[in-house]
Amino acid sequence: MLLDEIVKKLNDQVVKEMYASNLYLNMSSWCYINGYDGAGMFLFEHAKEESSHATKLITYLNETDSLLVLKAIDKPESNFNSLLDVFEKTYEHELKVTKSINELVDLAFSLKDYSTFNFLQWYVSEQHEEETLFRGIKDKISLAGSSDTSLYLIDEYIKGLTGK
Ligand code: FEO
Repeated sequence: MLLDEIVKKLNDQVVKEMYASNLYLNMSSWCYINGYDGAGMFLFEHAKEESSHATKLITYLNETDSLLVLKAIDKPESNFNSLLDVFEKTYEHELKVTKSINELVDLAFSLKDYSTFNFLQWYVSEQHEEETLFRGIKDKISLAGSSDTSLYLIDEYIKGLTGK
């Protein structure tokens, strides 16, 4: 049985992961519409990962006999200035998610909820991976510049990250 404060924060995190999934779906669509099919595919796949982050939290709530009480998910941004703008925003978003996970970890530890603390370690590792991934993409786009050829090659590179 989890403390109410922990259940509430886990519920909030579910909504944040769902928001991330929706944001990345919007970004994916923007990329496809603007000819960046590789980035579109990458972000579409990543949206599915974010959705799985939410369901993993829901499973934990179910396993601990805790109630899921979903709140409305904010409307994510859908218009972007450039491919660089998209990936700068993914990186900024991941930093926010890391902060939120760290706050949850802090709370679980301070309340001596070691089960939740242990469960959250997966998210700590995941955030490290995701920050590295998105920072890498953002930096490569910056380095490549904004010529059509560079953007085409960068899009192919991002497609390669999907393994498809
Ligand atoms: Fe679920 Fe990308 O954080």
